[in-house]
Amino acid sequence: MVTHTPLPRQDVVPPAPVGAMISAAEVHKSYAVGRGTVEILHGVSLRVTPGEMVAVMGPSGSGKSTLLYCLAGLERATSGSITLAGKVVEELSATDLAVMRRGEVGFVFQSYNLIPTLTAVENVTLPYTLGKQKAPKDLVEQTLAKVGLTERASARPPSMSGGEQQRVALARVLAQQPRVIFADEPTGALDTRTGELVLDELAAQAHRPDQCVLVVTHDPKVAARSDRTLFMRDGLLVDELRGAGVGEVAAKLASLSVGREG
Ligand SMILES: Nc1ncnc2c1ncn2[C@@H]1O[C@H](COP(=O)(O)OP(=O)(O)O)[C@@H](O)[C@H]1O
Ligand SMILES: [Mg+2]
Repeated sequence: MVTHTPLPRQDVVPPAPVGAMISAAEVHKSYAVGRGTVEILHGVSLRVTPGEMVAVMGPSGSGKSTLLYCLAGLERATSGSITLAGKVVEELSATDLAVMRRGEVGFVFQSYNLIPTLTAVENVTLPYTLGKQKAPKDLVEQTLAKVGLTERASARPPSMSGGEQQRVALARVLAQQPRVIFADEPTGALDTRTGELVLDELAAQAHRPDQCVLVVTHDPKVAARSDRTLFMRDGLLVDELRGAGVGEVAAKLASLSVGREG
């Protein structure tokens, strides 16, 4: 049972910032554990503006995936307010959220979330299929080519390597062209060169005027490609670097991870 009582919204929530693609104000998230609850996010506030690529880094278990799930409306925040592509997430129904996630909002899961019975190309076109829309054939072909999957278009996930599955998950979100892309460790299974290619694509999407990318990563190279990096520890955002290089990001992450698993 979640026992946390949300504060009245007007007490905690500043007006949604004009122009933000993602904004979060004092987001708390608790999970029911046994007879009680455990709070994972302790009041996270952030804002991502159009054209930005923002990375989130932090030790394992610090709440990065939970934050991404709440921001994307995959999990309901316990309290606080989130706006996403101009909509107030806590006011949206489950159906509204599902419609958003095959349209304006894309999510690359750490575990890929591919449908095992569908081919690579069918997985890529799934957001269109679910929305009863015809997938743009040229865009889908180009996207598969960009991630090096042209030859594997008819393969199904069980016959694919982890890296291939991750590239299908990325191709799906790139072909969807949502305004907001969330990506949870999107390069974890990729070799260096493929990882860089994918990063180029994510950055290109983010830097369009009406799009943005929020990426969780443990790779300082991904953070260094981002415009800003937010550092998370124990369910709170504790620091931020803007335009930092690989060394600076790695040093900051190490300072947060002292005495714990990275
Ligand atoms: N559904 C859940 N129920 C209970 N605890 C959870 C649940 N999901 C995540 N947690 C806990 O929340 C903490 C943060 O997890 P997570 O957001 O996955 O961290 P990260 O992505 O930074 O590694 C962990 O201690 C994890 O065990
Ligand atoms: Mg995680």
